[in-house]
Amino acid sequence: MKFTSALVALGASSLLLSGAGAIELDITSPDSIKQAAKSISTGLRQFYTGDRLGDVPGNLPDPYFWWECGAMFNAFIDYWYYTGDDQYNTITTQALEHQIGEFNAFMPDNQTKTLGNDDQAFWGMAAMTAAENKLPDLGSGQPSWLSLAQAVFNTQQARWDTQKCGGGLKWQIFTFNNGYNYKNTISNGCFFNIAARLYKYLGNDTYADWAEKAWEWELSVGLMSPDFHFFDGTDDNQNCTQVNHIQWTYNAGVHMAGAAAMWNVTQNDLWRTRLEGLIKGAGVFFKDNVMTEVACENNGKCDTDQRSFKAYLARWMGYTAIVAPFTRAEIDPLLKASAQAAAKQCNAGVNQTSCGLRWIDNGVNDGSVGVGEQMAAMEVVQALLYPTVSGPATEKAGGISASNPNAGADAPNTPIVFNTVTTGDKAGASILTLIVLVGILVGAWWMVS
Ligand SMILES: *[C@@H]1O[C@H](CO)[C@@H](O)[C@H](O)[C@H]1NC(C)=O
Ligand SMILES: *[C@@H]1O[C@H](CO)[C@@H](O)[C@H](O)[C@H]1NC(C)=O
Ligand SMILES: *[C@@H]1O[C@H](CO)[C@@H](O)[C@H](O)[C@H]1NC(C)=O
Ligand SMILES: *[C@@H]1O[C@H](CO)[C@@H](O)[C@H](O)[C@H]1NC(C)=O
Ligand SMILES: *[C@@H]1O[C@H](CO)[C@@H](O)[C@H](O)[C@H]1NC(C)=O
Repeated sequence: MKFTSALVALGASSLLLSGAGAIELDITSPDSIKQAAKSISTGLRQFYTGDRLGDVPGNLPDPYFWWECGAMFNAFIDYWYYTGDDQYNTITTQALEHQIGEFNAFMPDNQTKTLGNDDQAFWGMAAMTAAENKLPDLGSGQPSWLSLAQAVFNTQQARWDTQKCGGGLKWQIFTFNNGYNYKNTISNGCFFNIAARLYKYLGNDTYADWAEKAWEWELSVGLMSPDFHFFDGTDDNQNCTQVNHIQWTYNAGVHMAGAAAMWNVTQNDLWRTRLEGLIKGAGVFFKDNVMTEVACENNGKCDTDQRSFKAYLARWMGYTAIVAPFTRAEIDPLLKASAQAAAKQCNAGVNQTSCGLRWIDNGVNDGSVGVGEQMAAMEVVQALLYPTVSGPATEKAGGISASNPNAGADAPNTPIVFNTVTTGDKAGASILTLIVLVGILVGAWWMVS
């Protein structure tokens, strides 16, 4: 009896799974991977309205913040690079162009109220990816992709703050925004990532020096542990002596790609050891090789931003495997298991191709759908194609985007102080509160490891 009912249950559940659409994915077939990425991309595209008449290119509708739109277009640039399907290149180019903003450095006035270094950097990294992947430049007197990334680097380098904590970038750019006293890992990690990739592209030692400096500083205050775990951030009012130990996938990812770029150019053992350690440290985010946002998936507290973070770890694992081939043995099983698990649960919505947040439930969609969920599944699937591409271009190897070392130089140095302080709708404040709250709620069980 027991045996029979178990069989019935098994039959019923496999019927549910196979009958429920989902994304077909044969990880041994590039064509199948491309087809899967395409199906998922359709769902992602459908969230974007910025190209409609009267809407603003480069903005996603509520509840998505501006930075995530930059992240999404980076994902679409990678999609094109990996699959050859250019159907999103027009909206991508239009969005990046519209958001260039003041000082040609992705600091548009509309975002001033909440603009963080990390927000600016997500657009800067999209421009860097455009240069690396040879997306045609804008032309007609507009800055090159590469110079936009240089502008982000230059404006942030000028904000490096030695008044407290012995260095580091603050989270927020403007003094009147909440979070100005928080020095967070993603802001410093993005700066490290851009510096390392500019170094790989241009070979200019200034970028390497800053990458090294950011890395060393994060280690010195404990945003990075000696065994390569990355924690959320620290308060500079306390001279960075207290660290919020919550761990996010994207912090591991943003440093992984930067370390891989540094190794690619230097090929020295220091960066090799760091990169190996970092990949090992990222093991905290995998369960049976399947990626999970361990801080918030289990307690159901991932906010809109956080639901996209796995996209960036997946993206940067693909990048790492390309530019630092010795990591492939470690990265391959993680990417493959994660992509299969992600695709398997992309079975919700009208076309049964909408992806949920959790990949660790063996094909069961958790009902959480959105830009972050869809983007993460797309990134992890398309990253499987890394062995089929030649990798990021450089100035001497195929690059077509022009360098402007002085890009963004006309931006004022920090601190940018405004007289009028309006403490109205501060997205930053609620994010910070939430981070701290989640940090307390999640507790220490997984963070101490
Ligand atoms: C569903 O498929 C249709 C036709 O291909 C497409 O236009 C639509 O954007 C898709 N919706 C989602 C959520 O994937
Ligand atoms: C800023 O907001 C205005 C009003 O919504 C819009 O017309 C403009 O395109 C926006 N600019 C950018 C760079 O987003
Ligand atoms: C603040 O931290 C930095 C770097 O850790 C240290 O060099 C400095 O002495 C500290 N300042 C104070 C006042 O404790
Ligand atoms: C460095 O990266 C490029 C791609 O940008 C790749 O072709 C090259 O093989 C890498 N170098 C090494 C030593 O792996
Ligand atoms: C290297 O980059 C720095 C920082 O942007 C710049 O000041 C310097 O002119 C560059 N050097 C060369 C040789 O391009």
